[in-house]
Amino acid sequence: MIKRQKYHLEPDRGLLNDPNGLVFYKDMYHVFFQWNRFEKNHSYKEWGHFTSKDLLHWNWEGSALLPDQFYEQNGVYSGSALIKDGQLRLFYTGNNKSGGVRKSSQCLAVTEDGKTFQKKGIVVSTPTEFTEHFRDPKVWQDGDDYYMVIGAQMKNGRGSVALCSSKDAENWKFELVLAKSKEYEMVECPDYFQVDGQGILLYCPQHRDNESDSSLCSFSAYKEFDFNGIVSGKIEDSNVQNLDEGRKKMDQGFDFYAPQTFTSPDGRKILFAWMSRMKEEEEKLFGEGESSIHCMTLPRELSYRNGELCQLPVRELEKSLCIHKISGQERQSGEIILKNRVYCAKLSNLQNETSFKIEFQNREVILEYKKVEKIISVKRKNWVTKEYDERTCKIDSLETIECWSDISSMEIFVNQGSKVFSMRMFTEENGKVKISGLMKETVVEMYDLMGEGEEKNE
Ligand code: FRU
Repeated sequence: MIKRQKYHLEPDRGLLNDPNGLVFYKDMYHVFFQWNRFEKNHSYKEWGHFTSKDLLHWNWEGSALLPDQFYEQNGVYSGSALIKDGQLRLFYTGNNKSGGVRKSSQCLAVTEDGKTFQKKGIVVSTPTEFTEHFRDPKVWQDGDDYYMVIGAQMKNGRGSVALCSSKDAENWKFELVLAKSKEYEMVECPDYFQVDGQGILLYCPQHRDNESDSSLCSFSAYKEFDFNGIVSGKIEDSNVQNLDEGRKKMDQGFDFYAPQTFTSPDGRKILFAWMSRMKEEEEKLFGEGESSIHCMTLPRELSYRNGELCQLPVRELEKSLCIHKISGQERQSGEIILKNRVYCAKLSNLQNETSFKIEFQNREVILEYKKVEKIISVKRKNWVTKEYDERTCKIDSLETIECWSDISSMEIFVNQGSKVFSMRMFTEENGKVKISGLMKETVVEMYDLMGEGEEKNE
């Protein structure tokens, strides 16, 4: 079990995918998720459940929603949570594939104790405009109204986001196609929220082979979105409702998908995502010898700054840091050796640097910055091909970099989270960090997350 994480959410067996039903309810944070508790593959889906009082220490609650009704017999698919009249309502997609024919239904389950769930049945059936690729309801309240966005495919084979509304969060009606894609054949896991006064639509465009009805590739994106203008009919500009225009990537790295947001009691927008985009052969090899596969990203606080959606680990995580600040001598040699790979490296004051390199875990991941080219590149060794995969992104200037490393993952936050690279890694190398090319005024801080560099035995 070399890949079991220390501070990321993962079940003890089976396969985890999308975060579902994120909510703060009755003094607890709830993270539900897509779970195959039997095998490390996608053949079965129910909702698993974690709770926490502080976003740091998590309780494992086991199964929450099982596929025990006809309309969901092939999977309790993704969905979200809403609190109404003191009751927690979970909206999700019931997937039925009997006779090889897909049928999707948006369903409701309720709970008052966060432990026992009562199924209330189907609340939205697929409107005639769409195929049965109609899933992942995300609900929210806006004044006296309730809204639900759903990932969809139009009958013409193009991806879209559908909008339903309700006055009581029980009886729902299809309103309109909120936005459409010309490039992509499907959209999964939409989410809409406001942060720092800006409306944001999150969505996962997906290429599908509509002939064979199979998924080809997908990623997570967002765009600035004037929801009220569109719903009130004030904005009819098709570019605004076009999911291909103004689309930005949520993550610059390798493993990030199906993000979902919720609001914390103090009003912060918090996001979790599934930290995987592994291909089948990568998944197989990664899971070998392990009892489970896949984990969530760290919980991240969202903000909107200078036209960008920014993500940073929640401030609660800072409390968990046990600080080991690198001394001058270590700085000069540029090599920091930790006994474990559970650490956070923070670099600040980077604006005068021209070109440098950070090698993590003995070159398992390599970050490079070149000021003249305005480029940050991250390479990660691929465990199947044994070659480096590389991702690059353009930045106008560089100020800060934060790298959160766990046993088998790395999340790199550039410029206070305006660009993020998320990735899993497959290594037994300990936390060797080599920094080369830095100038004097850059501040490097290492935070050992397991306590003074000591390996903790489980
Ligand atoms: C996204 C997704 C969702 C679906 C779920 C099934 O990863 O395909 O669209 O509800 O996973 O597990």
